[in-house]
Amino acid sequence: MQPRSARIEGWGYYAPTRVLTNADLERLVDTSDEWIQTRTGIRERRVAAPWESTATMASVAARRALAVADVDPAEVDMILVATVTSDYQFPSTAALVKEAIGAERAAAMDLAAACSGWVYGLTAAHAYITSGMYRTVLVIGAEALSRVCDFTDRNTCVLFGDGAGAVVLRASEEAGGGLLGFELTVDPNGAYNIWIPAGGNRNPVTAGTVEQRAHFIRMDGRETYKYATRTLARSAVTALGRAGLTTDDIALFVPHQANLRIIESVAKQLGLDMSRVYVNVDRYGNTSAASVPIALSEAIERGRVQPGDRLVFVAFGAGYTSGAAVLEWTADPARAARAAGIGADVSIHPPKDWTGDDPTPPELRPFFAEREGAGVAAETVASGAGGAEAAAAR
Ligand code: ACO
Repeated sequence: MQPRSARIEGWGYYAPTRVLTNADLERLVDTSDEWIQTRTGIRERRVAAPWESTATMASVAARRALAVADVDPAEVDMILVATVTSDYQFPSTAALVKEAIGAERAAAMDLAAACSGWVYGLTAAHAYITSGMYRTVLVIGAEALSRVCDFTDRNTCVLFGDGAGAVVLRASEEAGGGLLGFELTVDPNGAYNIWIPAGGNRNPVTAGTVEQRAHFIRMDGRETYKYATRTLARSAVTALGRAGLTTDDIALFVPHQANLRIIESVAKQLGLDMSRVYVNVDRYGNTSAASVPIALSEAIERGRVQPGDRLVFVAFGAGYTSGAAVLEWTADPARAARAAGIGADVSIHPPKDWTGDDPTPPELRPFFAEREGAGVAAETVASGAGGAEAAAAR
């Protein structure tokens, strides 16, 4: 039977415990806390521990979202992981997440639309469910951007952070609620304004590409800023128009957390007071595809979302991509308490013929060694220990 709506029934997020502050970055590159805060609004960001990866963070967020939805993992039909920092070129991160959460029946795939990826994923999940093809879809945004940041480049390394957010979308026989309108765009003119030149098949990694640091993010910040401020408001207005709504109908605007100035500019263009805009870029920086679902989960946790509220999610990113989705919220926010007991431990079987090195960027290792005690990171990676054992070791 064709469902009447596809609703978000569960949500959750995970942010690694390692914190990298602006003061830390002052010790690495020619920057200042004052510059970073005034130009971006960022105070600190999170960095994945050696035993963590995009797949493990995605899995923790997914387990929390499933608990909130009170859905057995075996009921999940499809896992969509939006990411540009997949654990490997292949297999997909989604395949690893499937193992970690025990979603025995689920199909699983990654989706690469950069920071707009989770919004793209939400619309895909809506289509799967309302077409009658699937009943339960997990939409995850997860990134370990610290591992593709050049910590010698002040233009980019201050901006990004790690984390994951997830929602469970389910078929409902009740009408109303869920996605009301959306807009997805791509402007390939910006394809090389934010990109990683090496590591794909166009420029495989060689000693030369490593020497050029071409396996790290490169960005034209000014062009990207202009694109973002031009596109976000337009995408939001188009999506609202398709939903038959205006900005006056929005209870909460949940934008991609790239830069506070971009968010404020878009709010101003839309005529939205900042009290109706959720902001957490100060604490996490830009977590790309994870940014909107982390912000949504936090907003619910903080009592900012109630049943009947109309929410707008909007994002932009590499591609250039942009995406906006208007959604009517239906779930009881109190359900969040169901995820209280879900810790950060997940297990994904390791490869037989490969033992990894500490994936923490070498420039950052001294900060964490100082705080955590030298040796912990190296030991846990070498022994393949997961979060629980590593935490016990600390
Ligand atoms: N500390 C100190 N100075 C800096 C730093 C820094 N961390 N970074 C840049 N500067 C300098 C620049 O070198 C420049 O110096 P110059 O005038 O001597 O050349 C000066 O500050 C001003 O640089 P601008 O680029 O004009 O600074 P702006 O105010 O535009 O802020 C920023 C730069 C924050 C990068 C902004 O352009 C921005 O946020 N752009 C959007 C970036 C973004 O959101 N990217 C994510 C895309 S999403 C994805 O898919 C991953």
